[in-house]
Amino acid sequence: MSKIFVSRRIPAAGLEMLGRAGVEVRIGQEREDAGVDPRVMLDGVRWCDVLLSLLTEPVDRALLAANPALRGVANYAVGFNNIDVTAATELGLPVSNTPDVLTDTSADLTWALLLAAARRIPEAHEYMRAGKYKLWGPNLLLGADVSPGGNGVRKVLGIVGFGRIGAAVARRAAGFDMDVIAYDPHARAQVESSGIARWADLDDLLARSDFVSLHPLLTAETRHLIDETALRRMKPSAILVNVSRGPVVDEAALVRALREHWIAGAALDVFENEPAMAPGLAECENAVIVPHIASASIGTRDRMATMAATNALAHLRGERARNVVNAGVYEGEAYRARISRTIARA
Ligand code: DGY
Repeated sequence: MSKIFVSRRIPAAGLEMLGRAGVEVRIGQEREDAGVDPRVMLDGVRWCDVLLSLLTEPVDRALLAANPALRGVANYAVGFNNIDVTAATELGLPVSNTPDVLTDTSADLTWALLLAAARRIPEAHEYMRAGKYKLWGPNLLLGADVSPGGNGVRKVLGIVGFGRIGAAVARRAAGFDMDVIAYDPHARAQVESSGIARWADLDDLLARSDFVSLHPLLTAETRHLIDETALRRMKPSAILVNVSRGPVVDEAALVRALREHWIAGAALDVFENEPAMAPGLAECENAVIVPHIASASIGTRDRMATMAATNALAHLRGERARNVVNAGVYEGEAYRARISRTIARA
């Protein structure tokens, strides 16, 4: 019987799909609030034909190399910075992810955060809960406009990373009559032909934007892309939104920026050392913080589960998976040798 190791429990829709395919499934961690013990992870990888991983599990070279019979890795996330893709490719292992199905859900959350920070919704909510609301007042919980609003000035939304989610965030800006500028060194042509955003260099974008929204992949190039220098380039009235990966922002520098009001606020779905936060961040009243829930709708998490399961089954059968992030692997000798060895043996 073919075996898939699922590092942590995914929604039933995906597990049922694997069950219908007659696959034996082992789950590394049943608890929602705990990671997988590295020894359980290693045992699971040695035991299985395909690994279905979550973004919380580091999948490094040593783990991938621990099982010469492994056929592929299906990540239950669009981001795949938890996986050493270079090592996977060298070892002949396809790595797949779950794009598209979470684009709208993540773009919606980006806007929810942006609006929450601009209009101080969490503070207002706490104010009500604490019974502080005694009388309406003209100065109560004043926030920033997102649409032209009272002063009639169009706001500038700066998008860093113009992939699927960045572009979906840009499309939604039309409803707020915003001017959208975007920076993505890997997608300049897409920005320029998009009709929804104008190209801007990063420094220019940071200096001009009222809202800066981050959507790059986490790579060596984007780690700490938003550091002290970048934060100091932003307007004192600007709000930073991060729905990509925590390490794109130097979080200690961000805490200083929020405390010392180099910028007006931040709205964060992700954190540099998740689930921990940099000291002082939780106390910043001008920060809106949520626990990595950008794709957390019932429908989207189900679709991610069936997509990851479909990819895992393709890896298992030695077929090309639809959502492979290292598609070149299929042309390599390492993959051919691995699949002929493992499928022939099965
Ligand atoms: C992803 O898929 O990469 C998100 O961070 C979680 O859905």
